[in-house]
Amino acid sequence: MRDFAPSPDAPASPAPHPPTVSEARLLSVLDTAADGIIVIDEHARILIFNKACERMFGVPAAEVVGKNVKLVMPTEYAREHDAYVGSYIRTGVKKIIGIGREVQGRHADGTVFPLELSVGEAATPDGRQFIGILRDLRPRKESEQRLADLQGELVHLARVSAIDEMGAAIAHELNQPLTALMLYLQAIRRAHSRGVDIVTVVGDILDKAAGEAERAGHIIQRMRQFVEKRDPERHVRALDPLIDEAIDLTLLGQRHRIRIDRQQGENLPPVSVDPVQVQQIVVNLVRNAIEAASGVADPAIQIRTRADDGGVVLEVQDNGPGIAPEALPKLFEAFASSKRRGMGLGLAISRTIAQNHGGDLVVEPGGKGRGACFSLILPAAAAVPDEVG
Ligand SMILES: Nc1ncnc2c1ncn2[C@@H]1O[C@H](COP(=O)(O)OP(=O)(O)OP(=O)(O)O)[C@@H](O)[C@H]1O
Ligand SMILES: [Mg+2]
Repeated sequence: MRDFAPSPDAPASPAPHPPTVSEARLLSVLDTAADGIIVIDEHARILIFNKACERMFGVPAAEVVGKNVKLVMPTEYAREHDAYVGSYIRTGVKKIIGIGREVQGRHADGTVFPLELSVGEAATPDGRQFIGILRDLRPRKESEQRLADLQGELVHLARVSAIDEMGAAIAHELNQPLTALMLYLQAIRRAHSRGVDIVTVVGDILDKAAGEAERAGHIIQRMRQFVEKRDPERHVRALDPLIDEAIDLTLLGQRHRIRIDRQQGENLPPVSVDPVQVQQIVVNLVRNAIEAASGVADPAIQIRTRADDGGVVLEVQDNGPGIAPEALPKLFEAFASSKRRGMGLGLAISRTIAQNHGGDLVVEPGGKGRGACFSLILPAAAAVPDEVG
């Protein structure tokens, strides 16, 4: 529980007196303020504790005025605070005054919550006073969290929808290894029932059958990893293998022939990424490129990586018509789509993911015989991740 006794180093509270007219006016102004306002003296004793503070901390002003402001701080802050005020008065070095920063407050029920605190200073005939303006950050933090959750949902939904759209073709892809597996097993069964000596070949056929079963397993595993719901992660990885896997995943869903020209840059630094999210960008870009190029005689896509100052760039270029000028202004906005069955989420989500990784997604729109080229830029992983502390 909290100790409401005045701190031993504080002088006794001044004798209360009825407020003068101007004091009463000031108090009513303070009490109508939406922000919490606390005024303390040089000994950290509370002189003013407005109504917003009473609500924020769950304690009436009458219980705290005259006592040390540590009462409304969690223990670890409280310990530092006296030292803080003392050191400022001695040295004049400002750590918070005039700056403002995020601190923690303590409610009467013991909950600790985030606050934005800005502190001003006033010289009065009674000595120096410090005026703290406090804003409860919980509503902002909650809405930030809600937004982050929502974004996560959307990212996940887009992955599910990508797989969903590719569904029929993926089933077709799965059918190939399963059919091959069946054929191998049938061959053994036939030979066996005809009494043919299969000892010399059986090992080889079984290896092949196992290989096909493994291939089918991999397809399913990759899809499951891709749509699995998970919190964002960070792993230091080489970008190229991630890209290759994502290209394979995208091509699983393709019925049409398309030429893929893949070039890997040399000496690419590793990146610190959420592998599934980065693969999601690649899937989105390559699907868009395939869709854009599907109307030309010889559809082709170039997928290149290269090192670029301090980072890595992935370029996906197609030989389609380029971005339509009317689509360009809203290209990266959600729900902007020119396709009959498009959700218009691919690029919006991809850019958000890129920026959450400290990178970006940009486009050269092409046109006049040139296809669009999208560049995903990712910073290199820091050599010593914790060097900034
Ligand atoms: N490579 C490209 N060439 C030409 N236009 C493109 C290309 N990539 C994207 N676009 C345009 O940008 C729009 C938005 O693309 P985005 O990937 O965000 O959504 P979508 O492909 O329409 O739907 P989905 O949510 O299924 O990805 C597309 O509808 C298309 O008009
Ligand atoms: Mg798309």
